[in-house]
Amino acid sequence: MFLCQACHARISTPTAQLGLPELQLGLIPGFGGTQRLPRLVGISKALEMMLTSKPVKGEEAHDLGLVDAIVSPDQLVSTARKWVLDILERRRPWVASLHKTDKLEPLGEAREILKFARAQVRKQAPNLKHPLVCIDVVEEGIASGGRSGLWKEAESFQGLLQSDTCKSLVHVFFAQRGTSKVPGVTDRGLMPRRVTKVAVIGGGLMGSGIATALILSGYPVILKEVNDKFLQAGIGRVRANLQSRVKKGKMTQEKFEKTVSLLKGVLDYENFRDVDMVIEAVIEKVSLKQQIFADLEKYCPQHCILASNTSTIDLNLIGEKTKSHDRIIGAHFFSPAHVMPLLEIVRTNQTSPQAIVDLLEVGKRIKKTPVVVGNCTGFAVNRVFFPYTQAALLLVERGADVYQIDRVISKFGMPMGPFRLVDLVGFGVAIATGTQFVVNFPERTYKSMLIPLMQEDGRAGNNLLLGL
Ligand SMILES: NC(=O)c1ccc[n+]([C@@H]2O[C@H](COP(=O)([O-])OP(=O)(O)OC[C@H]3O[C@@H](n4cnc5c(N)ncnc54)[C@H](O)[C@@H]3O)[C@@H](O)[C@H]2O)c1
Repeated sequence: MFLCQACHARISTPTAQLGLPELQLGLIPGFGGTQRLPRLVGISKALEMMLTSKPVKGEEAHDLGLVDAIVSPDQLVSTARKWVLDILERRRPWVASLHKTDKLEPLGEAREILKFARAQVRKQAPNLKHPLVCIDVVEEGIASGGRSGLWKEAESFQGLLQSDTCKSLVHVFFAQRGTSKVPGVTDRGLMPRRVTKVAVIGGGLMGSGIATALILSGYPVILKEVNDKFLQAGIGRVRANLQSRVKKGKMTQEKFEKTVSLLKGVLDYENFRDVDMVIEAVIEKVSLKQQIFADLEKYCPQHCILASNTSTIDLNLIGEKTKSHDRIIGAHFFSPAHVMPLLEIVRTNQTSPQAIVDLLEVGKRIKKTPVVVGNCTGFAVNRVFFPYTQAALLLVERGADVYQIDRVISKFGMPMGPFRLVDLVGFGVAIATGTQFVVNFPERTYKSMLIPLMQEDGRAGNNLLLGL
């Protein structure tokens, strides 16, 4: 993008993606990107594109003035050649994008736009410096000219390159790409098998979110509950998840109806005879999960993947009453499951590489970032997360205020504090998962009674489905 912005014209295909995604890496666009984009599309749009790191498609880029002509891929090179000759021979204007000013908003208006952008950035990411640096650099170019902006851009870029934010975000970038390569699994040439129907057991907070994520990506889903009341409540939650997309204008009513029609509610296992994957999301109780997996083995076809959304329980324990250890796997989603991108795929020593490859593919199709981890109490995320929650509980029992702890943590940069989170997750789940740690690591867990006492007092948190 930098290079083509510095050219005299740009030709694109209708679907090419054009953007400056550097802020995602803790940097600002270099090589004049911060200076030329505002001059090509205006300050507002340029800031939006840079600050959100979101690309635009060729067609939109054409409407914005970033691209001068749209052609089909097979016409791209020949059209570009013709434009080069036209520009060279002055049949088309010789435009130096760094000196263009016609798209720049007048200085007064520009300052208002920059002020608004700064306020937005401070609100959305108060701990991040580089978006503000980006706005400063854009401002320099507007106030003192493109060349001056280029100097400031180069200097700021060098500074940011050394920042911890940049190093961490670059690490995240490569780590996210690395998640799809699992040695001994994805390098065996295995092809993911077709998954045409998925069953979800439990229509509570997690089950309804998982079912939503699946139907949103076109998977027909059977949702099983214990009785009609809970089933209707579960289906209601899925509908509400989709309805909120309609309200936000992200989904048409027609698409809503089509998506909902992929969901079928059931109360028994009769419809499980042709499912390719089951994701169990009932409460965190070992005996209940063991019984469910024993039942699944009886009703589901031999090839069916048997996944659990358990937060903490050792999968070997869940599968103890079955002979299907090679197809038992963890599919650990995070709440709200239809929104949060992480999917922890838990494999035991016996889980087959094929089952992992299949779940990786489903994860990708439902637009998650699947991360394959080993099996143990708490897996990777909760194993890290639990000591953090415990430390917060310890502080409260030593006299600290819950709201103060949450405030400090939010200020540090977490989206919310540990107590707000436990409220959202639901005390039933928090207690059940906490118990797993206390039972499995008694010598290094702190047993707090705070949450159990609150629940006993009827203060249940936001997820009111607990204990069902
Ligand atoms: N709440 C979270 O943030 C979170 C996050 C990740 C994972 N998890 C895990 O997901 C699982 C479910 O948690 P939740 O928060 O959705 O619980 P929940 O209490 O909201 O929902 C559980 C649902 O399972 C249903 N159920 C119970 N037995 C059933 C059976 N035999 N057949 C069908 N349905 C049955 C209940 O009726 C209830 O609706 C737990 O293992 C939990 O550890 C929860």
